[in-house]
Amino acid sequence: MNFKRTIIITGGAGFIGNHVVRLFVNKYPEYKIINLDKLTYAGNLANLKDIEDKPNYKFVKADICDFETIYKLMQDEHVDGIIHLAAESHVDRSIKDPFTFAQTNVMGTLSLLQAAKLYWESLPEKWEGKRFYHISTDEVYGALELTDPEGIMPPFSTKASSSKHHLAYGSKFFTEDLKYQPHSPYSAAKASSDHFVRAFHDTYGLPTVVTNCSNNYGPYQFPEKLIPLFINNIRHRKPLPVYGKGENVRDWLYVEDHARAIDLIFHEGKIAETYNIGGFNEWKNIDLIKVLINTVDRLLGRPEGADMDLITYVTDRAGHDLRYAIDSTKLQKELGWEPSLQFEEGIEKTVRWYLDNQEWMDNVTSGDYQKYYDDMYKNR
Ligand code: NAD
Ligand code: TYD
Repeated sequence: MNFKRTIIITGGAGFIGNHVVRLFVNKYPEYKIINLDKLTYAGNLANLKDIEDKPNYKFVKADICDFETIYKLMQDEHVDGIIHLAAESHVDRSIKDPFTFAQTNVMGTLSLLQAAKLYWESLPEKWEGKRFYHISTDEVYGALELTDPEGIMPPFSTKASSSKHHLAYGSKFFTEDLKYQPHSPYSAAKASSDHFVRAFHDTYGLPTVVTNCSNNYGPYQFPEKLIPLFINNIRHRKPLPVYGKGENVRDWLYVEDHARAIDLIFHEGKIAETYNIGGFNEWKNIDLIKVLINTVDRLLGRPEGADMDLITYVTDRAGHDLRYAIDSTKLQKELGWEPSLQFEEGIEKTVRWYLDNQEWMDNVTSGDYQKYYDDMYKNR
């Protein structure tokens, strides 16, 4: 079959990646989508069962650090687009093992960039019709101050802005022109990879685009991250380890809304631009955790709030960033994107999904996972 385009999506077996792969495979039967993933602890092909037999989908198990394999794959498959999500993504792991983060996030991105540059440069049409899209995080900007602990009215709203909870915890937001100030080994490695991507545009003319997104939530997130971990713990009445005082603020975006933004930017974003993607949806951890407890309890038929006593304050994360809040006005104004889902709807869907998919949860939380958690929390 002749495809109009061939796109590699790296990290397609991970949390955000599987939603992006699913969207592209279903929406663009005329594209060949190659999911390139090493299948680390965070990658799971069970996340893609519903599309694995589609004629325009192919899975390749490979490490993004393996330059030779990537370069050959690009030549063999005539790849004209890369959407790069593969990364080590968990801050707590980066604090324990920074080397793996530098290796995957920096060297892996560099090897993809070099493979794309060498292959596309060798073609008669060179960069024409090509695109290297790098997915990054808002954490590269560092932390914002939490100047308004009770919350203020934010200067923007969207159709999906929650009526009950539409607050900002400070008057400053992350915009695309901010200086990078990463604090964790994770965000330092992501920042470094972003710099390499821009350097490949500025030095060689590689057609790149970078986006920096806020915290995602939704189905298929590995349960080391706050939302799936806590939903599972509430279900099994296990303690909820809240770092510090639970006052840290994150800006939450439903993962399918991120995937929609990626689709739009891949096709319509301007070369060499950066776009911030956010939920316009700030929550203090402790408030969010209370919503999770109430939702799980209600859906399981327990008296609402019955599990509040699971909240357990533990030693704070080292270098814990206080507040993240994205201003995605540029993306809204230039390309017309905004979140589609109100947070209350998104959380309800998410909690339901984890409660309905206990088998998925059991599969990903067996073996090595248990040991990781025992090591992680034994001193708390
Ligand atoms: P994830 O940890 O769930 O998935 C990462 C995927 O990458 C896994 O499938 C894993 O097997 C694969 N991978 C890891 N190392 C690899 C390697 N060396 N070669 C090939 N594949 C490898 O991550 P996620 O939460 O889906 O995040 C995806 C991307 O989005 C990351 O780049 C992350 O920095 C970024 N991001 C995430 C969030 C979030 O809230 N999760 C927010 C903003 C940006
Ligand atoms: P996380 O999901 O790890 O995302 P990130 O650190 O990339 O923002 O954490 C979200 C917030 O929840 C963050 O402020 C740390 C906090 N947190 C806890 O309080 N307890 C936990 O067990 C975890 C995993 C996170």
